Amino acid sequence: MTYRIAWLPGDGTGKEVMEAARIVLDGLKLNAEYIHGDIGWEFWCNEGDPLPKRTTDMMKTTDCALFGAITSKPQKEAKNELIPSLRDKNLTYFSPIVRLRQEFDLYCNERPNFAIKGNPLNHRDDINITVFRENTEGSYAGVEFWPTSEELKQEMLKGAPKMKNFMDTPSEDLAVSARVITRKGAERIIRAAFEHARKFNRQKVTLVEKPNVLRKTGGLMVDVFEKVAAEYPEIQAWFDNIDAICMWLVKSPEKYEVLVAENLFGDIISDLCGQLVGGLGFAHSGNIGSNYAVFEPVHGSAPKYAGLYKVNPMATLLAAKMMCTYLGEHDIAAKIQRGVELTVQERKVVTYDLGGTAKTLEVAEEVLKNALR
Ligand code: NAI
Ligand code: MG
Repeated sequence: MTYRIAWLPGDGTGKEVMEAARIVLDGLKLNAEYIHGDIGWEFWCNEGDPLPKRTTDMMKTTDCALFGAITSKPQKEAKNELIPSLRDKNLTYFSPIVRLRQEFDLYCNERPNFAIKGNPLNHRDDINITVFRENTEGSYAGVEFWPTSEELKQEMLKGAPKMKNFMDTPSEDLAVSARVITRKGAERIIRAAFEHARKFNRQKVTLVEKPNVLRKTGGLMVDVFEKVAAEYPEIQAWFDNIDAICMWLVKSPEKYEVLVAENLFGDIISDLCGQLVGGLGFAHSGNIGSNYAVFEPVHGSAPKYAGLYKVNPMATLLAAKMMCTYLGEHDIAAKIQRGVELTVQERKVVTYDLGGTAKTLEVAEEVLKNALR
């Protein structure tokens, strides 16, 4: 069977790391057809949409997508960079990544953070933490108010009778963001974490929350976590508060295996964990739903390096590896992993962040060579 893969390079160095991914995927003969999709800043500027409908339509005909990185800018700059004929159309910039997650219901953001032995950027060599971040709701549900209506103020007072002072605050001086947890949303991300632990023989799953302060939303998360955990008696269910775990992750990261959290807490801990094992040159993720998945490096378009072929392609190669695992191509996935590991260990052909001088595509060639060794 030939896979159909949506190929979304995006902007700047996103294009370069995707070229690197093709060198490795083609070299390892993944049986796939790659269909280019337009996404990113130039489509915002020229068409008023950084994720044109033709791209999402095309994606719906594919098995999954590999995505490089895009450039995004604050609303005011975004408007100024539109072509003149679009400037008076009252267009608003929306993050195409957030839209992909919503449109394809990619609720699970899986972020592996494993130390590759010999990586000089590792905090320790025995770190292997996979973060499951809920991708569609929580603190990033987009339920926000500013200015705040009198009605909403009254409603808020019901939840916090002692907080009378915001009733006297003028609407335009009061902004509110709501954290939204649904039982369904909590359950599917927590289940994904336990299923992963079962499949890959991990011993512990830790819920990261703050239920002593965020009593309602945190309370629901804990309730769901306990119920789901009971179905996996062979796996230890741990709990940590978001603030405490940031200290523990720096002090004893080797004690953790699988972490699960709502959107904002997951965003924070996944960046923390990423930095423990190599940072943006290695951090990769999958946005996974029930029927579709988008794999990507975590970094952005790194404009200062655009066109220079300087950035580390490892993050994108590891995202491509995740994609191969998703497709069931375990042999190719294992080869990419091996190629990356040997290349990092030997450090003969590596990019600047690892103390080398090699170019993006040279690293890809080296990874391919090592993958086939
Ligand atoms: P960035 O991740 O693009 O780069 C920050 C710095 O990290 C770079 O200057 C470089 O020093 C380092 N870096 C990034 N990727 C690297 C790699 N592969 N190898 C080695 N070093 C690497 O973040 P920044 O500069 O904050 O954002 C640039 C643009 O990217 C912005 O427009 C931002 O909105 C966008 N962005 C897009 C993301 C995405 O497409 N998923 C994620 C983050 C930012
Ligand atoms: Mg982030």
